[in-house]
Amino acid sequence: MSEKIALVGGGGREDALARKLFESGAELITIMPNDNPSIRSISTECLVTKSRDANLLSGFIMDKKPDLVYVSPDSYLETNLVDKLEFNKIKVACPSSTAFQIESSKIFMRQLMKRYGIPGNLKYEVLDNEYDIQKMLSNTSFEFAIKPSGLTGGKGVRLTDQHFNNRVEAIDYAKQVFLRDKKVLIEEAVRGEEFSVQLFTDGISTIFAPIAQDYKRLYENDKGPNTGGMGSITDVELKLPFIRPQIYERAKDISKRFVEALAQDGQIFRGVLYVQFMQTKDDLKVIEVNGRLADPEGMNILTVIEGDVTDLLFKIADAELKRAKITFRRKATTLKYLVPPGYGISPKPDILRINTEGLPDHVHIYYSSVEGEVNEVKMTDSRAIAIVAESDSIPDASSMVEMNLWRIRGNYEMRHDIGSLKFIEEKVEKMKTGNY
Ligand code: AMP
Ligand code: GLY
Repeated sequence: MSEKIALVGGGGREDALARKLFESGAELITIMPNDNPSIRSISTECLVTKSRDANLLSGFIMDKKPDLVYVSPDSYLETNLVDKLEFNKIKVACPSSTAFQIESSKIFMRQLMKRYGIPGNLKYEVLDNEYDIQKMLSNTSFEFAIKPSGLTGGKGVRLTDQHFNNRVEAIDYAKQVFLRDKKVLIEEAVRGEEFSVQLFTDGISTIFAPIAQDYKRLYENDKGPNTGGMGSITDVELKLPFIRPQIYERAKDISKRFVEALAQDGQIFRGVLYVQFMQTKDDLKVIEVNGRLADPEGMNILTVIEGDVTDLLFKIADAELKRAKITFRRKATTLKYLVPPGYGISPKPDILRINTEGLPDHVHIYYSSVEGEVNEVKMTDSRAIAIVAESDSIPDASSMVEMNLWRIRGNYEMRHDIGSLKFIEEKVEKMKTGNY
């Protein structure tokens, strides 16, 4: 008999996961804010609601008597949905809201690093009055990152040297955050190459996925405002060509230290931990820690994952991850997101027609925040369709995505430069010179 899994989330990352679960024989019950046609097509039942009310959602889920629940997006993980399910003895493969504080409170994350001496911390201050904000940011000898502590969908962080015309504007922004949240996190700003480490954990053991890089800026050549992510890459040997090998080993070690610190702190973290790092000229810094699969990078790793993903989730829930048989295919992946025209500024969602006929095995089209049918979707204001290709090199995979764009008709925007040879070579050069 197949295992019944309730999956919460309706984006591209959840589509990739749903397909893996379906392939490994699970029966899917899904809850999603948009009626994602791809996820719907492989689910036996769906609840489409924008509500994130934990009573409503846990009631629906418990009624279906699933064998396991996986809550995927951050906006649901910060509610007490998982806590309610656990209280009712439902098996979950994701963190409780308290363990999820590692993402939902950037202040908690920095303080945890300090308390447990986890390497890679940044100098930071938590400020709770306008006087201190003014005083700190008026010091123009340093650049700072101004951050709301809570979730902002990757769009709340502002850097003094990049997002403002002058310090007065930066101070105003920090004050706005303080007036809304009663506190604001101000960190030293660092420069370098960012990358993401994603690992599966049951709170004890860990399985590392290939490291990834996502491209947050809206426009080509990393220009424009930050978005949720316009695309992402992974490479053949689980590493990236512009990240020094010893940095990669240290990043893995630091990521494990988070799992251990949370356990020592009384919070067993179960699910996917996703740590964003920055390789600087001569060091490694933690930029952010997330308690879930990355979007888009989660899709890169789910594209090359090998093994029974349904079993993986059970092993996470049952604290038996050391017995899981999961590996990653030695292929490079490049993912590019197709987004509505004006995305991130003033979106004008359109219809997209999608032709998947004869789609090669090494190319995948994942459906994100869309509705409608699999061959004709209605975009929303968010990212619409992700195309991922796997090949022997990142630039090859990038070209393969381009070669399959004819399959999508309609008005959209995207970044074509993601994964291009020129882009990778420039990054390798920067690694060699340390000139970030
Ligand atoms: P976050 O939401 O913390 O991941 O921040 C979004 C983006 O802002 C990161 O991917 C970085 O590019 C940038 N960022 C965040 N914190 C810092 C920092 N302390 N120094 C430099 N850049 C940062
Ligand atoms: N890759 C950005 C995020 O998942 O937050």
